[in-house]
Amino acid sequence: MLKKLFCLLVVVLALTSCLEGETPYKIAVAQCSKGPWREKVNKEMLAAQHLYEHDVKVTIANSFDSPELQARQIDSLAKTGIDLMVVAPYEDIQIINDAIARVLKAGIPVVSFDRKTSADYTAFIGGNNVEAGLIVGQYIASVSRGERPLVMEITGLLSSTPALERHIGFEKAMKAFPEAEYICRKSDWSSDSSCYYATQLIDSLRRHGNGRLDKTYIFCHNDGMATGVYKAVVEQNVEGRVKILGIDGMPAEGLEYVKLGHQVATYHYPTHGEKIIRLALDILTGKPYERENPLLGFVVTPDNVDLVTTESVELMRQNDHMVTIHDKLEAYFGLYNTQHKVLIGSFIAIILLVVAFVMMWRAYIQTRKAIRQRQTLNEEETLFYTNADSRMLTQVFETPKNELPAPKSQNTIFAEKLNEAIRKNMSNPNLKMDDLGEEIGLSRVQLYRKVKSITGLAPLELLRKIRLQQGYVLLTTTNKTIGEIAFEVGFNTPGYFSKCFKEQYGKLPGELRAHEESE
Ligand code: FRU
Repeated sequence: MLKKLFCLLVVVLALTSCLEGETPYKIAVAQCSKGPWREKVNKEMLAAQHLYEHDVKVTIANSFDSPELQARQIDSLAKTGIDLMVVAPYEDIQIINDAIARVLKAGIPVVSFDRKTSADYTAFIGGNNVEAGLIVGQYIASVSRGERPLVMEITGLLSSTPALERHIGFEKAMKAFPEAEYICRKSDWSSDSSCYYATQLIDSLRRHGNGRLDKTYIFCHNDGMATGVYKAVVEQNVEGRVKILGIDGMPAEGLEYVKLGHQVATYHYPTHGEKIIRLALDILTGKPYERENPLLGFVVTPDNVDLVTTESVELMRQNDHMVTIHDKLEAYFGLYNTQHKVLIGSFIAIILLVVAFVMMWRAYIQTRKAIRQRQTLNEEETLFYTNADSRMLTQVFETPKNELPAPKSQNTIFAEKLNEAIRKNMSNPNLKMDDLGEEIGLSRVQLYRKVKSITGLAPLELLRKIRLQQGYVLLTTTNKTIGEIAFEVGFNTPGYFSKCFKEQYGKLPGELRAHEESE
């Protein structure tokens, strides 16, 4: 019963563990920087955990513009049992390249996103930065044609691929627009340095002819840097005259600045965190995937900024909704899981109760039976002592004391059994002690030991002695011939019988007969 119960519990527990669901793919993200663009892509990747057919667990580590910290983070993330790593490398620098190479060597696929390094990677996904620079350059050309404008480009950190490629693209556009005076300042991604370069330029323009200020375009490699330029413009009191352009196009940043007129344009640099996770999943599940995955961007100007903002905000809201729905579902599932466990617990409790009840019922029935038997016995006893006739009757079944057999020792019982067995089989001249032992249930050795200890004779000697004794009896009590008697007591020849007889009784059988007859 207990065994069956145990099996049942095992089955129930096995079934419950089956309901736990698949283990999620672990994806680590080594993010290089902060800011609205990075925050948006991070949010999208986290939301995408709940978007696809497989469970995904995304963990993000941010190194806040420190390549050393990022290299360390890449190494430690790789040791956390992840299935894939997404890296937005801060810059193309040896320590980061080496760290990425170590991840790949450990058999973990690496998706490089937004930025590239000279290290190998499994796949790349990110905006097309050459195109971004080119399109912004072409936009400036299109709006300033005939003006002979002054165009300043303030780059991001050129050791990071987006800055380098944006510069390549922009330079290309400027080459195709020789009418413009093009100058380039190599910077980092900071708004302080762009503010500094913008201030310098405005200063010098002021000194050499104020009029050029209205034909000046400053293109920064991101909208954050563009805010630095705007700050300089406000400080220098030339707001609205110097035209500022940036890249990223985030609702709370570039799009807002275009709307407010701080910037004349921005480039919508795509984030698409959901596509990054899709690519990662395709790699992990062995689906076909492209090694290079460029994402499309476009220029945002005062003409389309409202539409783009609406779309962008709507998409972000939907992203948030999805996270809210997921959180709610999680909460429901949590509740469901608790209810499920309570249900199983109750189920087990019910089974245990039923078992306990059955056992108690059985114990009750047995006790009742025992009580009834006891009662019957008691009644019989009472009857016996109160009913004289019954007392007489019971005597019918008793053996009278004088007829009881005398107690026998074990040796006597054995001797009687052996004697009986020998006498029963005596006429068989081939009778062996093994046969006798078998008949009384003893082995040859046991028989030998027992016979020897009781009679002092070996079993064969005892057998011969009894044969001769029986011969003596037959000689003296029957008319059978000596030959007949010899055979009857198990001798093969009368001669040998006579010889043994003489040794035993000092007379030949014939002499015993003659003596008997003469009396
Ligand atoms: C943030 C950022 C963005 C830019 C991108 C390029 O760190 O500077 O503003 O577009 O990185 O990698």
